[in-house]
Amino acid sequence: MIEKILNILKNNKEFVSGENIAKSLNVSRAAIWKNISKLKNMGYNIVSVTNKGYLLLEEELLFNKLEIEKEIDTFVLGKKVYFFDEITSTNEYAKKLANDNANEGTIVISDSQTNGKGRLDKNWVSNKGDGIFLSLILKPNIELFSVTQITLLAGICVCNTIKMCTNLDAKIKWPNDIIINNKKVCGILTEVSAQIDKVSHIILGIGINVNNESFDESIKNKATSIFLETGNKLERQKIIGHFLKEFESKYFKYKQEKNFLTFLDEYKNLCVNIGKEVKVIYCDKEITGVVLDISPLGEIILKTKKETLKIVSGEVSLRNANGEYI
Ligand code: BTN
Repeated sequence: MIEKILNILKNNKEFVSGENIAKSLNVSRAAIWKNISKLKNMGYNIVSVTNKGYLLLEEELLFNKLEIEKEIDTFVLGKKVYFFDEITSTNEYAKKLANDNANEGTIVISDSQTNGKGRLDKNWVSNKGDGIFLSLILKPNIELFSVTQITLLAGICVCNTIKMCTNLDAKIKWPNDIIINNKKVCGILTEVSAQIDKVSHIILGIGINVNNESFDESIKNKATSIFLETGNKLERQKIIGHFLKEFESKYFKYKQEKNFLTFLDEYKNLCVNIGKEVKVIYCDKEITGVVLDISPLGEIILKTKKETLKIVSGEVSLRNANGEYI
């Protein structure tokens, strides 16, 4: 009912009486009053005036479960949303849910994280109001070695979503950093639970820098946000809605075909590393070479001075025009 009341208020630029809302929804005025109080507590700026009723004033970028659910138009992904104002890490929470047998497609979103986790044991800056911190539970029934491909698929979908919502030219730094003008705007952390080599579930954790106005000195040369690139603050729920729709269609196709080949060309077109010299940190070793291609399994094919190698994942730094690694 709360969603319906909110819709009525959003669709009226003038005061609406509690009585009229109650009549149109066939509920008591007390129920209306209770839900209006809930909406006020959620941050909606609703003015109540005796004998006139309720008026919703222009909202600022509100981010909550109601606003997110409104933007989700999918069949499976995001059908169940857990939302928090603050959490340690959405991936950690999603892991617990998955271990308790949560359905495929369940998502966990938080407005902030106190212990946001990045790849390679780094932490992920997760301040309130700034980013999208989302974890998605997937149960794709694939072998362990194919998991990287789901991550690559998610990378394609984040790029397409950013392009769709902002017109920015988002690209992928292999395996799955999303960059704009050479700075990282999104990272993906995939965590897997498997038995022998069969996957039981995957937690696909996505962090997108949306409204960040600045970054700490330590990362400010490497990180960017959609706000820093466009000057506009965006409604994060719209990006989430687009992403889930885009990812759902590709993910179910992937599950059906059980192979990444259909998406390989799209991935390669977005990938900035092909043909470039890179330094890959892999199993604590530093390997320098030129990226020849991406294999159908999602590996990087690297030509070093000595040999040609296939590497399944790792940390990659790219050389800039001055030959420095960035
Ligand atoms: C990276 O280091 O590039 C990956 C960053 C992934 C961050 C996201 S934010 C949502 C989810 N919860 C986490 O704790 N981490 C991932």
